[in-house]
Amino acid sequence: MKQDAAKARPRATILSRRRLLAVSALAACAVPLPLLAASRAPIPTPRQTAGPFYPDRLPADRDSDLVRIAGRAGEAAGEILGLEGRVLTRDGHPVAGARIEIWQVDAQGRYLAERDRGPDPDFQGYGASQCDAGGRYSFRTIRPVAYTGRTPHIHIRVHHPDGRELTTQMYLAGEPGNARDFLYRRLSPEEQAALTATLRPAAASGYRWQTEFDLVFA
Ligand SMILES: [Fe+2]
Repeated sequence: MKQDAAKARPRATILSRRRLLAVSALAACAVPLPLLAASRAPIPTPRQTAGPFYPDRLPADRDSDLVRIAGRAGEAAGEILGLEGRVLTRDGHPVAGARIEIWQVDAQGRYLAERDRGPDPDFQGYGASQCDAGGRYSFRTIRPVAYTGRTPHIHIRVHHPDGRELTTQMYLAGEPGNARDFLYRRLSPEEQAALTATLRPAAASGYRWQTEFDLVFA
């Protein structure tokens, strides 16, 4: 009976189901995180200070996975976050080949630059990612935590292939410390929206959270 039902099914339906299965399989294998559509209007990303904690010495391992350090067996403490997005021009075109750096505190609020404070030896603290032809970048890092005087944030610097740089900070929606943060407070509501990412529970294994954060050159 099942064979008869399959024979009776229109060919177009079978093809579309096959295509759907193929796309699903591709998505499961090749894309670690769902590619979420950007919800923000592409205003130029507001610039913010790099602050005093850009690493004084870059780590030997400076790849896009900040949770694992080459040669170490351990994994960084903290809630693992998949951070991905695109680098765009003001009119929405991808900036292929842009390079992105990020740096942030470990799960205890210590920067890599604060070596005297003994940052987590299993957290890279800094990483870099090269955008693909679609302007896409991705990092595996930890959900940023607050430290004295600051709400949770990730520092980001983008290098455009034409030599321009964009330095900013990414914040998290719903953090109670945002309203008290001296840098966040001075942003307009539109600028706050452009620098605030919404974390979602991650679908991919090995991640607790995921978010999409686009960076737009003026
Ligand atoms: Fe900071």
